[in-house]
Amino acid sequence: MTATTLYEQIQQFYDASSLLWEQVWGEHMHHGYYGPNGTYQRERRQAQIALIEELLAWAEVEPPQNILDVGCGIGGSTLHLAEKYNAQATGITLSPVQATRARERAEMMNLDARVQFEVANALEMPFADDSFDLVWSLESGEHMPDKEKFIRECYRVLKPGGKLIIATWCHRPTDSVAGELTRAEKRHLEEIYQVYCLPYVLSLPEYEAIARDCGIKNLRSADWSEAVAPFWNIVIDSALNPEAILGLLRSGWKTIAAALSLNLMSRGYDTGLVRFGLLCGTKASN
Ligand SMILES: C[S@@+](CC[C@H](N)C(=O)[O-])C[C@H]1O[C@@H](n2cnc3c(N)ncnc32)[C@H](O)[C@@H]1O
Repeated sequence: MTATTLYEQIQQFYDASSLLWEQVWGEHMHHGYYGPNGTYQRERRQAQIALIEELLAWAEVEPPQNILDVGCGIGGSTLHLAEKYNAQATGITLSPVQATRARERAEMMNLDARVQFEVANALEMPFADDSFDLVWSLESGEHMPDKEKFIRECYRVLKPGGKLIIATWCHRPTDSVAGELTRAEKRHLEEIYQVYCLPYVLSLPEYEAIARDCGIKNLRSADWSEAVAPFWNIVIDSALNPEAILGLLRSGWKTIAAALSLNLMSRGYDTGLVRFGLLCGTKASN
């Protein structure tokens, strides 16, 4: 598949499904956080906000002034961060429907004077070097057809002294102890890629190696699979209400396929194949 076809598919996927997602599940299009071992009982939206807060704490973020949200959806994190830190923020997405809805939400929250949303490609960002003191990417890296270029771009636009946080879907490590992915695991991943418009994912150690090569300082990583895995069963349960089913039928086959395949992710976490990986680091001050 060419990168252009992939981008078109991603755009169509989010154009078609984002308003339904918002109607049923709200403005955050990412996992929730259920405690380090996934045992906390939390309402779903509360768990999604907890994930943002836990990420900020884990990465030891100092209050930023100018934030970039790479792959911003309808601006869930962008607006949360802009409000929390009283900061400027920019969100980018491939989906014009998402960008329009995110702008509406910024207006509703009276944040439109300092928060903007653009349709732009994370692999060729329309921003100068050293522009943002927090670059945040929550569950968009899995869509990128060139992971190295993605991390390099995030790093390029980061200000010296600024912080980069990436949370992304990974597969299990394939070191000499764990072994290569089996044929069945590769098939399982292929199904996930197809349904969610992903070109491929990497293991967390592979991401770390790329980040190190890019020159990221104070690099840290963590695997939060256990903490977020309960999310999928909660989404599966809530997809069974009449409003969600009706919305799905109106949103087209690609969204229906994604809904019918929610168990691919929960099964992936159960077997240890799917992982939720985090990276954070800084850019050296000049
Ligand atoms: C699962 S959503 C996550 C949205 C948001 N981060 C959140 O947590 O609510 C993935 C987002 O990544 C964006 N995306 C995927 N590939 C992209 C690319 N190459 N450039 C910019 N955005 C991209 C999609 O448009 C979508 O907004």
